[in-house]
Amino acid sequence: MGYKGKFKVWRGDASGGDLKDFEVEINEGEVVLDIIHRLQATQAPDMACRWNCKAGKCGSCSAEINGKPRLMCMTRMSTFEQDETVTVTPLRTFPVIKDLVTDVGFNYAKAREVKSFTPPKDLKPGEYRMQQIDVERSQEFRKCIECYLCQNTCHAVRDHEENKDNFSGPRYLMRVAELDMHPLDTADRKNSAQEEHGLGFCNITKCCTEVCPEHIRITDNALIPMKERVVDRKYDPLVWLGNKIRRR
Ligand code: F3S
Repeated sequence: MGYKGKFKVWRGDASGGDLKDFEVEINEGEVVLDIIHRLQATQAPDMACRWNCKAGKCGSCSAEINGKPRLMCMTRMSTFEQDETVTVTPLRTFPVIKDLVTDVGFNYAKAREVKSFTPPKDLKPGEYRMQQIDVERSQEFRKCIECYLCQNTCHAVRDHEENKDNFSGPRYLMRVAELDMHPLDTADRKNSAQEEHGLGFCNITKCCTEVCPEHIRITDNALIPMKERVVDRKYDPLVWLGNKIRRR
């Protein structure tokens, strides 16, 4: 059964903005993105919102719904009370372009900083062989749809703009961890995780894991094991001795 629901949507641009009130028709089975589309169609044709698949797979319609980072297309209206006001605001960690659309370029810049897969030089195409167990270790991380909800949520950048230069965020630390687990990758991911991608900024709050719409266990399966490998490398007495000798 349809009903009239109350929405507050942030409207504005880089120079500022405000929450605007709307009363809008809501029908059974709808998600927040349907309501934003209805507002565009009936009351606010210039309301900006980024979306693509409406199936939770493109990672475009990320926003904050009642203060929680969510995909608009995967947030059912039935999860709210009918008399509840639903507030939709843009991702807080990235600069607003217009209304619900933010500039997520920070993430693309961080993606480019991760050194690509580096197989051994003498390995020819067709000679790449992996055990199923190695495939399975990183399979979970490949489910990432790059919605950037984790990047938006992690307090290390959300509350500390100044950290953005030195911290790649959970999504790209997970990528580094994934490559580090790859049996054919030869790049030194452990040093770069710590020195270039700011693994040390992560204090394991697990907020990134909580908001992941693909339920990837970012902290437990990528970041913590990566931290352990970095520490093992740093404090392994043999590695330490080897480094000392090499430095001479
Ligand atoms: Fe941030 Fe996730 Fe670590 S939210 S602090 S990257 S556990």
